[in-house]
Amino acid sequence: MKEPALRHFCEQVFVKLGVPPGDARVTTDVLVLADLRGIESHGVARLPRYVTGIKEGFMKPVDRSRIVRETKATALLDAELSLGQVVGKKGMDLAIKKAKETAVGIVSVRNSNHYGIAGYYALLALEHDLIGMSMTNAAPLVVPTFGRTSILGTNPIAIAVPGGREEPFVLDMATSVVPRGKLEVLDRAGKPMPLGWAVDETGKGSTDPTKVLGALAKRLGGGLLPLGGEGEAFSGHKGYGLALMVDVLSGVLSGAATGLQVYADEKVPNVGHFFLALDPAAFRPLEEFTRDMDRLARELKASPKAEGLSRIYVAGEKSAARTERHRKEGIPLSPKVVEQMKKIGGELGVPGPA
Ligand SMILES: NC(=O)c1ccc[n+]([C@@H]2O[C@H](COP(=O)([O-])OP(=O)(O)OC[C@H]3O[C@@H](n4cnc5c(N)ncnc54)[C@H](O)[C@@H]3O)[C@@H](O)[C@H]2O)c1
Repeated sequence: MKEPALRHFCEQVFVKLGVPPGDARVTTDVLVLADLRGIESHGVARLPRYVTGIKEGFMKPVDRSRIVRETKATALLDAELSLGQVVGKKGMDLAIKKAKETAVGIVSVRNSNHYGIAGYYALLALEHDLIGMSMTNAAPLVVPTFGRTSILGTNPIAIAVPGGREEPFVLDMATSVVPRGKLEVLDRAGKPMPLGWAVDETGKGSTDPTKVLGALAKRLGGGLLPLGGEGEAFSGHKGYGLALMVDVLSGVLSGAATGLQVYADEKVPNVGHFFLALDPAAFRPLEEFTRDMDRLARELKASPKAEGLSRIYVAGEKSAARTERHRKEGIPLSPKVVEQMKKIGGELGVPGPA
């Protein structure tokens, strides 16, 4: 589907649900960017979740967020259950404004909702020649090392760093080995999953996605593994530490829910976010910084390749190429997602995109 048609449809859906046009555009931007970058799990496939959230009242269509505390370089926002994307953009914009004035801006958000891809907010900083970072906590699906129940979210981390001629370094990743969506795909296909993705109720590695998803849904135990996998052998404890770091910076720092409390009450998810903007020019001239970023990227890419492989990537490179391709050729959407869109459009009186 062509990007403009997809955008137009999503914006109209949000406007029909009472979201002001400017905020409908921001929310759409985040969803469509996910699809453009090839992160289907967080693109328009998630539209039903937002439609339900707004209809059920735990996602407020009109932005109610407000600054609770503020210093020159920091701010705490209470989102008051506004749309995560709208508050997220507002938070990152504020961090950017502060970084331009003081070299660093940090904004912490509480009482928010799911904000989509963490990368969207980090990328905003690049337009201002700043380094951007963004993190969020999420519903508990990840089991801590040596544990057997899920306590932490898939808590993503994103960082975007300006480059010169080379593509910017844009790392945008969950802190779990895989998202829940990957288990759902194999479950639907009736296939086993690789050992190292998830554990069952006993805390032992499982290859049965149906069993793990069932136990997770009933909160019987088990769940996804943190980056690095099971136990300490492949450094699962480091992934666990990173997920906890995100929960501390997003949740504890802002006073949002943390760990098991995130989404404990579906009607008050109380998600927390963290945004940082940093001006490299506060340390050295921007041209020197971007020149060295380029050199580092070129060194990595020119280094010897593993047998049978022809290319080394820097994070963000493949997503940028995908974005260009999808802008030109259209965004591939699964039949299920198109069906969902038709259903939503039908219910709200929004004509489906051609
Ligand atoms: N809002 C939430 O609650 C939430 C929770 C979890 C994840 N997410 C989002 O889900 C998305 C997907 O996360 P993921 O962990 O599955 O991403 P992923 O594994 O697809 O990619 C992670 C990173 O690795 C980079 N990469 C991919 N192949 C590479 C290679 N060969 N060499 C170097 N770098 C490479 C990508 O550019 C990306 O920055 C992210 O956008 C994340 O923000 C959101």
